[in-house]
Amino acid sequence: MRSKGLVPFFDSAYQGFASGSLDTDAKPSRMFVADRGECLVAQSYAKNMGLYGDRVGALSIVCKSADVAGRVKSQLKLVIRPMYSNPPIHGASIVAVILRDRNLFNEWTLELKAMADRITCSRDAWRLESHHKADRYMFTFTGLNPAQVSFMTKEYHINMTSDGRISMAGLSSKTVPHLADAIHIAVTKAV
Ligand SMILES: Cc1ncc(COP(=O)(O)O)c(C=O)c1O
Repeated sequence: MRSKGLVPFFDSAYQGFASGSLDTDAKPSRMFVADRGECLVAQSYAKNMGLYGDRVGALSIVCKSADVAGRVKSQLKLVIRPMYSNPPIHGASIVAVILRDRNLFNEWTLELKAMADRITCSRDAWRLESHHKADRYMFTFTGLNPAQVSFMTKEYHINMTSDGRISMAGLSSKTVPHLADAIHIAVTKAV
């Protein structure tokens, strides 16, 4: 990316969920920050702090000099002012309290690891049932077509986007067999 003069922009919406560790998942963006080049990192705390409804995240832009940083900041203000002007403060205050307190931070990392492990269990169960390839994504495509998806919703009350995408976080090792059975019927009976 550097040799081609590209500007890296990280969309970090699930930090901690891939490996179970905040530090491991931050490695790619930290690698780019460490080489002292420019980069942008958009972080969301919606999933890893369970604050979806509070709209909380951060945009960090690493610049090569204070002069560039000043210009980037004034441009950002121009974008922000007509868009949302002032960000909601409630969720950000919760995140700030947790990040500033060593004990709360440690507690959060343990809880995050527990969530990541739970999703890994569901993913492993899903892999066994469905023979889908191993991946670490939060979402997975079932391969169902729109007719099969609507069959699943109508007959089994299993909801997903019409392109067949499901959220791994919405599954548990207990519900995976039910999903697999429903998919089996959908692909053999529905269009
Ligand atoms: C890859 C990715 N980026 C960004 C977002 C948006 O994050 P937020 O809800 O904090 O705006 C999401 C999920 O909603 C996402 O999946």
